[in-house]
Amino acid sequence: MELTREEEEILKGRRGEAAARALEAIVKVGEALGAERLVPIRHAHVSGVSYGNIGEAGARFLEELAEQGARFAVPTTVNPLGYDPWDPGFYGATREYVEGQERIIRALTRMGALPSFTCTPYKTSLFEAEAPPPGSHVAWGESSAVVYANSFLGLRTNREGGPLALLAAIAGRTYYYGLHTPEGRIPRVEYRVEAPGPLGDAEAGVLGAIIGEAHEDPEPPALRASFEGDLALRELSAALGAAGSVGMVYVHGLTPEPLPRGWRPEERVTIEAGEVRARLEEHAPASPGEVDLYFVGCPHLDYEDLARLASYMRRYGPSRKPFIAATSNEAYIRALGDGTASTLRSLGVRIARGTCLIVSPMNLRGVTVATNSYKALFYLSRRGARVRLAGLEQLARLAAGAGET
Ligand code: F3S
Repeated sequence: MELTREEEEILKGRRGEAAARALEAIVKVGEALGAERLVPIRHAHVSGVSYGNIGEAGARFLEELAEQGARFAVPTTVNPLGYDPWDPGFYGATREYVEGQERIIRALTRMGALPSFTCTPYKTSLFEAEAPPPGSHVAWGESSAVVYANSFLGLRTNREGGPLALLAAIAGRTYYYGLHTPEGRIPRVEYRVEAPGPLGDAEAGVLGAIIGEAHEDPEPPALRASFEGDLALRELSAALGAAGSVGMVYVHGLTPEPLPRGWRPEERVTIEAGEVRARLEEHAPASPGEVDLYFVGCPHLDYEDLARLASYMRRYGPSRKPFIAATSNEAYIRALGDGTASTLRSLGVRIARGTCLIVSPMNLRGVTVATNSYKALFYLSRRGARVRLAGLEQLARLAAGAGET
C-alpha cells in the first residue's frame, strides 16, 4: 500500500504508540482487501459499546487503549449503551453490568468520545456542530447509520465493525476501498417498487429486508420507491443493514450524489406491493391481548417521532401494556421542553435514553414484543422473543386496546 509521508511518520510513532498500532491494523486490513491507499476521515462512529455486547474482555481492551494514550484524532460519536445511563436500574442491569458499562464509558470518554449514545448520531448537535460536508470520508460502525449516511447524507463509509471504526478514529484514517471509491458506489441492479402510495415505517423495513436478502452485489442497489418520511428512511436503512451486507442504497430522488451521465441499470427487479404487504401480514400482531411489550426506537426515534407518537396516543388512549420508546438524550430533552415527554409518560410510554433494548440485559425469552422496526424483529427473535411488526400508528392504536392492526 502506498502511504503518505505523514502516515509513515504516524507508523513510526510520531503521534504515539497507540496511534501507530491503530494505523498498522488499518493498513493490514486495507492490504488484505487490496486497497492501494488510505484516506483521511472527518468523523467516526463507534458501535459495539454496550457491556452486554463486548463484556469484560472488551471493557479491558478499551481501558488498556486509553491507558496507553490512545486518543481520537477526529470527532467520534458512540452507539447506545446496554441500559439508560440516566436510569441504570431500567432493563434490569445488575450491579456488575452497570460497573462494566461505566468503565467502558470512562475509557471511551478518556479517548475523546462525544457522549452521544445513539445509533442516529447524524441527528445530534454533537454531530451537527462539526458535520462533515457531503462527499466526506468517515468511518462508521452501526450498519443502520452506515446505510443512512451513505444514502441520504452523501457521506462515504464502509460498514466497519466496532473495533475497526475505533482504530480508524484513533488513526484518523481508513482504507480507500468499497464505498469510499466513486466506482464502488455505482449500482448495477435497480429495484422498483410497484406501490400505490409512499411506504410507511414498517413497510419500509420490510422492503429493506426483501432487498437486503436478495442483493448480492458488492455495489449498492438502486431503488425506485417513495417513502412517507425520515422515519421510514431510517427503518429502510436499518433493515437493509440487518438483513444482508448492503452499506448503501441509491434511492432515486433522495440520494444526494448524481449517478454518472447516461447510467442505466444492468438488471431490473420489480417488487410488487403485494409482496411487501404479505411479508408484513406474516408478522402482524393478531390482537392486543397477545402482546406483552411494545418497543419503538430501533434506530432511535428523533424528537419529531416522539411528538408524532404522543399525538397518536392522545388520539387512541393510554397503553395498557409496557411501552418503551428508545431515543437519544438530546431528543428527550427537546421532548421534555414542550411537554411531549410528560404526555408520553402519562399515556404509559417509558422513554429510554441512550440505550438499546436489543443489547440490553433484559430477559426477553418467550416475551411477545410488538415493534415498528424490522431490524428489531430480526435481532429480538434471536434473543428468544416472539416479535410482531406494525407501523408506529398501528402500534399506538393496538397498545390502547383498540384491537385493529
Ligand atoms: Fe439502534 Fe440498537 Fe436498533 S443500536 S439500530 S436500537 S439494534
